Amino acid sequence: MKVKITPEREIGKRDPMIYGHFLEHFHRQIYGGIYDPESPFADEEGFREDVLDALKRIRVPVIRWPGGCFVSAYHWKDAVGSRRQPFFDKAWRVEDPAKFGTDEFIRFCRKVGCEPYFCTNAGTGTPEEMSDWVEYCNLEKEGKYARWRIANGFPRPHKVKYWSIGNENYGSWEIGAKSAEEWGRFALESAKMIKHVDPSVELSAAALPDLDWNLNLLRHCGEFLDWISIHGYWDGLVEENRWADYEGVMAFTSHTADSIEKVEGLLKAMGLEGKIKIAFDEWNLRSWHHPNTFGLPMGVTPKEYLYPRDENDRNETYNVADAVFGACFLNTCLRHCNFVKMANFAPAVNTRGCIYTHKDGIVLRPTYYVFDLYVNDLGDTVVDCWYESPRMQVKNKEGRMEETDVLDVVATKKQDRIVLAAVNKDPEKARTLQPEFERKPKAYRIHVLTGDTVDSYNEIGKEAVRPARGDWQEWKEDGLLLPKHSVNVIEFRFS
Ligand code: AHR
Repeated sequence: MKVKITPEREIGKRDPMIYGHFLEHFHRQIYGGIYDPESPFADEEGFREDVLDALKRIRVPVIRWPGGCFVSAYHWKDAVGSRRQPFFDKAWRVEDPAKFGTDEFIRFCRKVGCEPYFCTNAGTGTPEEMSDWVEYCNLEKEGKYARWRIANGFPRPHKVKYWSIGNENYGSWEIGAKSAEEWGRFALESAKMIKHVDPSVELSAAALPDLDWNLNLLRHCGEFLDWISIHGYWDGLVEENRWADYEGVMAFTSHTADSIEKVEGLLKAMGLEGKIKIAFDEWNLRSWHHPNTFGLPMGVTPKEYLYPRDENDRNETYNVADAVFGACFLNTCLRHCNFVKMANFAPAVNTRGCIYTHKDGIVLRPTYYVFDLYVNDLGDTVVDCWYESPRMQVKNKEGRMEETDVLDVVATKKQDRIVLAAVNKDPEKARTLQPEFERKPKAYRIHVLTGDTVDSYNEIGKEAVRPARGDWQEWKEDGLLLPKHSVNVIEFRFS
């Protein structure tokens, strides 16, 4: 397949925050994940240093916290200071020990070197409670919350720049769900109070690709918003952990832009392009498995609603298909880089995350290496890249046949070099990519991420999916062979 790259025609600059992550107080993401004081890998503050190193290697730019559904009954004051008590997490129906709260998260983000992004409680919480949190984090010393932070050992403000109002308050599953009209008003009052405390913060609010919800939100609150938040999980596994096979996942790759395009269209129609950015602040191919907690019947025994969450720890669930999908989603974010300025992989650690922790170390799942390649090898300017991909038939998860492009290619500029992200979704055949440039490159190198089969995955003591990093080779214009079911990053230099 020919692909015509025109470096002079720049589409836009991608914001590094499209490579962001999310952590929720759910299962082993926080306790037993990033925070495990009993672990031999823990540092003096209880953070796992092997996890910190892995997150630093993929230069995580931003982490959203503390939820997710968890946040919609979370009161931040319960987990700061010296007089904390364990509290009952009404979303996930477990006891939270309150050992990890605002200050611990700030410390963690400083160690990672990323921005903290706070999601506030718009379920049982109030605009005042949200703005109290902003006082605690961002005021120098004015008022009782800034003074409380100082008394807790933090004389300098935490300077939290990114805040969002609510999580998924549009959903019946969410504690404190609201109608579109209620949401517009509530978000406005929350935004006013937050901006009254610190007008410099950047503010988002929970949204989805729904015209009525977003119109209400933007009409009431648009002038206060810098972002609009949407979420996406394609392989629905909440109640039944029957994950889509490779073909089913390839069918999903045709739908990575659906939500973005709808929200983009509305922002354009309302003249908000360039004023409000899209934060795709929860995304993952696979939704999390937690049966009998999102609706009726609610599980009664731990066997019904708690123990099944351990299923999320099965590494075989996260295979080459996850890497191929993740690359296609990030390619979509790159193509839409003028609107999508943040995306947060849900989550970073454990559950469906790209890093899995166990008592003797960590496993870097295939999706981790997609971030490794995209963050460390792709450029920051997206340029015009024209091609006509062959198509292939795939059976989707419902058993219906769908068509999808075989190849998914994005071109970026990195100083004076061109770097392509090229995905070959074909499960059986290698495909040839024939890049065409105005100027003939001198040399190229190609890094390939794939496994022996579409079901290859990484496990404790066995890494079957990791990048094969290539050396520089002379460019002879004889095309590039992209292995079957592979993610490829190809760098060209012209001098
Ligand atoms: O399954 C986990 C949940 O997915 C998150 O808590 C929520 O934000 C999303 O619906």
